[in-house]
Amino acid sequence: MLFNYLDKYLGVAEEVVNTARYMFRTGLAHGTAGNVSARLSGGEGLLITPAGKNYGALSPEELCFVDWQGKVFSGNPGPSSELPLHLAAYFSRPDCKAVVHNHSTYASVLAVTRTDLPVIMDELTMVIGGGVKVAKYGFPGTQELALNFVEALGDKQAAILANHGMVAIGANLREAMVVCETVERVSRVFVEASRFGRVINIPDESYEHQRADFLRKKAHEKVQEAGVI
Ligand code: 13P
Repeated sequence: MLFNYLDKYLGVAEEVVNTARYMFRTGLAHGTAGNVSARLSGGEGLLITPAGKNYGALSPEELCFVDWQGKVFSGNPGPSSELPLHLAAYFSRPDCKAVVHNHSTYASVLAVTRTDLPVIMDELTMVIGGGVKVAKYGFPGTQELALNFVEALGDKQAAILANHGMVAIGANLREAMVVCETVERVSRVFVEASRFGRVINIPDESYEHQRADFLRKKAHEKVQEAGVI
């Protein structure tokens, strides 16, 4: 093992564990479904939840530290089977500092019907940058799933995995959780509203306005990170 991540990143490890527990407590994750990771600010790699673990009993010592070559240095019993998906998110999106995957119920309804989530509520644009796409199907844990996810993600903060669940990214774990909760809530509204036979998107002007605000916020984060302001 290169270094004991708990010496330097105990706070991050605790946040990963707390996020996984929160997801379990709030019903966004069931059983051992779902996984959580965070990028380490020193550039060493990422911390990710172990495979097949019950989050209720998860501790920071059990997380897996993985470097950018995908080499696993610690963790019990080994990293989440969705490690390729998490790595793909970090590689394709430098702004991504945290990844949360779950099989929440209403997002899964869209996943199994392969229905994109349209921009029906303002918060979708403000939090996610627009509608949420369903990725092409990929077998769980594969590179194919990871690449299909990245394609559907584009420049947004979330994508739905066909017949599987959803994935959220964020500038931190809290933000990624808010993305998960927003996708689940708006998916629920969409599913329930579809019973009326007619669901109306927000007006184009509102979308343009909110999308511009979202892009401005992203640009601001980038400049802040570069240390210019
Ligand atoms: P892991 O337990 O390997 O993280 O897998 C759970 C899951 O949700 C797979 O998609």
